[in-house]
Formats: sequence, C-alpha cells, structure tokens
Amino acid sequence: MKKDIGQKVALYPTPATVVGTIDENGKVNFMLLAHIGIVSHSKILISMHSVHQSDKAIQATKKFSINLIDESFVAQADYCGTVSGAKVDKSGVFEYHLGEAGTPVIEKSPLVMECEVIDTYQIDNFNNYICSISHTYVNEELLDENGKLDYSHLKPVLFEMPTYKYLRTGEVIGDCVKMGKAWAAEQKG
Ligand SMILES: Cc1cc2nc3c(=O)[nH]c(=O)nc-3n(C[C@H](O)[C@H](O)[C@H](O)COP(=O)(O)O)c2cc1C
Repeated sequence: MKKDIGQKVALYPTPATVVGTIDENGKVNFMLLAHIGIVSHSKILISMHSVHQSDKAIQATKKFSINLIDESFVAQADYCGTVSGAKVDKSGVFEYHLGEAGTPVIEKSPLVMECEVIDTYQIDNFNNYICSISHTYVNEELLDENGKLDYSHLKPVLFEMPTYKYLRTGEVIGDCVKMGKAWAAEQKG
C-alpha cells in the first residue's frame, strides 16, 4: 500500500555543487546549490533564491561556475551553504583560479563548468537560470581511454532535502539501452 504524503518535491538526491561567482567589483563568492538540472543536451538550469549574495553577482555579470563536490571537501562546501557572502568573506574558503570565462574554478573540484546565463525564469522568489556551458574542466584521471567522463571514478556528492544529508553515488547496476532491449526480447520469448 502506498501512502499519500501530500505535495512533496521528491526528486532527491540531486548533485550538491558549489556555485562560484565574481561580482562587478571583482569580489569572489561561493555558495552551495543542489537544485540543479539538465534542460537540453547543451543547457543546464540552476534554481537560486533572489535573496542570496551570489544571485546579485549573477544578475550583474550573467556568469558563474558550477563546481562538483567530492568527499574531500564536502565540509568546506557545506559551510558555503550556511553563511552569506553579504556578511562573511567566503572568497578564501577554496583555492581557485579564474577560468577562461573569468569565473572561479575551485582547484579541489573534480569537474567545473563555466556557465553563461541565457534566460531566466522567476518563480516563488527563485531565479531559475538557464545557462550554456562555455568551458568544462576535469581532472584528467577521471577520463576513460576514450576521453569520456568516467563516473565510476568521478563520484559527485549528492544531497537530499528531507533529512538534510549528503550521500555518495553507488555502484553501476546495468548498461543503459541494453537492459531494456534484453527485457523486451525476454517478453517475446
Ligand atoms: C545542502 C544545501 C543546498 C542548497 N541549495 C540551494 C539551492 O539550490 N538554491 C538556493 O538558492 N540556495 C541553496 N542553498 C542555500 C545557500 O547555499 C545559502 O543560503 C548560502 O548561504 C547563500 O550564500 P550567498 O548569500 O553568499 O550567496 C543550499 C544550502 C545547502 C546547505
């Protein structure tokens, strides 16, 4: 029996990421963001509350970085989700350099995307930024022999809202498309 638990956004876990910004005065800031998704094969979306200092920087510059988190720096990343750059200087939390597009690239992050805002959808005080990706930087050891991202080694930290926990990704359980085809073949007998 299933129980109706009401109107819940129940799409967790989602990747926990650090958004890096640099405002119009050159001030770098980092914040944690887990409401993030894919909207086409070349565009992503982040959902950011308009109250955040990071949002002010994005409004001004229309660009930011998405830094995936691994287990080695999840506490630092978490810290960036607990205090605002409006009150605390978070620019020294991570070692970083500016990428080709001028956004902060965290040295410890296994994969960083530099993003450019191309559209904004405002809802419930959130700015949902649809972005193109201008550069993607990845630690070379996370590429397989064909130059593809190897997610058996790249293990982005995940987040779930109901109990506010971070999770690690799991094991490979099957081959996409092959599994479905094998199942269909079995049904035919
Ligand atoms: C695990 C976690 C996930 C978060 N995800 C989001 C999010 O997706 N969108 C958002 O607007 N804020 C999110 N936050 C809140 C911001 O990270 C937090 O308010 C931060 O202090 C804002 O920093 P800023 O004012 O320096 O930009 C999250 C916080 C945590 C701890």
